[in-house]
Amino acid sequence: MARFWNRRQFLLSTGAAASAAVAGRSLLSPRKVSATTYTRKDVGGLTATSPEIVSYATAVTAMQALPATNPLSWAYQAAIHFTTLPCPCPVYWNQCQHGTEFFWSWHRMYLYYFERIVRAMSGDSSWALPYWNWQLATEATIPPMFRDTTSVLYTSHRNASMNATPPTGSLPGWAVDCSAAMGDLDFASAVEDIQTPHGNVHVQVGGWMAVIATAAMDPIFYFHHSNVDRLWDIWLAQGGGREDPTTDTTWTGKTFTFFDETGSPVTLSDCDVLRAAQQLNYEYEGEPTQVNDYCFEILRLPPWVLEILQIIQLPGPPVEVVNEPFTLTLEFGDELQRIQDIAASSEHKLLLELGEITASTQPGVSYQVYVGLPQGQVPEPEGIYFVGSFSLFGPGVKDEVHHGSTSASFRFQVNHAVNAALRAKRAVDLTIVPAGILVDGKPEMPHTKATLHIGAIGMAEGTEKRSQSSQAVSGN
Ligand code: C2O
Repeated sequence: MARFWNRRQFLLSTGAAASAAVAGRSLLSPRKVSATTYTRKDVGGLTATSPEIVSYATAVTAMQALPATNPLSWAYQAAIHFTTLPCPCPVYWNQCQHGTEFFWSWHRMYLYYFERIVRAMSGDSSWALPYWNWQLATEATIPPMFRDTTSVLYTSHRNASMNATPPTGSLPGWAVDCSAAMGDLDFASAVEDIQTPHGNVHVQVGGWMAVIATAAMDPIFYFHHSNVDRLWDIWLAQGGGREDPTTDTTWTGKTFTFFDETGSPVTLSDCDVLRAAQQLNYEYEGEPTQVNDYCFEILRLPPWVLEILQIIQLPGPPVEVVNEPFTLTLEFGDELQRIQDIAASSEHKLLLELGEITASTQPGVSYQVYVGLPQGQVPEPEGIYFVGSFSLFGPGVKDEVHHGSTSASFRFQVNHAVNAALRAKRAVDLTIVPAGILVDGKPEMPHTKATLHIGAIGMAEGTEKRSQSSQAVSGN
């Protein structure tokens, strides 16, 4: 989605950031648990012999040698995320958060303790978890050390083209595009939208990574999530009033439990992971200055929320997508004028909502979404009718257990696409194109493993507004 605020809102929020910083500095002394600030590096600058990679391999080997009952073992750590191992489960298994507002914070906590365990198990006290910077065209392939079949970082449980050396498979640019999330002002939208490129990477790496219950068995998982975590920092650092939901007591009140490097359980709340460098002693190579957000503030403007007004729920037969593009004409009826006005406005988002999305098993492909594509025109993700993409990862996949809802839903900003179609007096078609990775630089023919069902299609008006809720009063 495009970046979306008017000048007045921008000035207001600059004021908010300034006052928050003042309150933070005068009232709080950050709790440092260690003197060192670890730097999480871009794996693109590392090789198989870099200390970060050598130590990681040492730790993975040591962790894999431990029994699954040991919290420091590879199997136990992966199971904290999710597992297929038989249950009743040891404590704190199957915790991962997807499709919830805890997605960023839960995974941050998880990586933080994983990193401490790797530090201990590798004996490398300076180790920090690198990140796979998959938005870069230069890092659109699985990093080479993970594709070396002699390395413990290799697994055969991946898409074979992605896993080959040299790799024939690569992540397409449209799949790793984070601009929708980055453009969102409100946290709820950003944490939802970031899960789209995140999920695309899971599904396109394939194999274990494509399924929640096995994803964290693949050593690449943690480098992938290091990048997702970095994107949280980058989202905040854009300013414009973006902030963590520190006035939302459901969010701030939530705690999760992990194990530290001594095997002792440790419990963190979302308020403990707001400031990576201050609270958790790490920063990312090349990231902008981290924003220090706090749960306790005296001066704070109400946060941004995306206020959504449903316009129309489109009736019709349920959509089923297999290997072929699916097209359906969106009929706006009496709402045509209103939709046209919103589409042309720069203050409001015209949103296409796809909901009740399910598949019997992981379809193994991603889906591109186009709106207003002229008849006969080939769908091109670089064109103006491409409004985004999605994959199913967890929610919506019926043979997987996980937390969160049983179906998936996704929202796409369609102002430009609808505006262009209506101005050209064309029918507004919705086109869903199953799409895989690039093989030898060319889009692969999708081989879908399950039919995608979309049960609900609607149009809505979205407005980024200051919520009425007032200031936070507790937390740290
Ligand atoms: Cu909890 Cu990327 O998965």
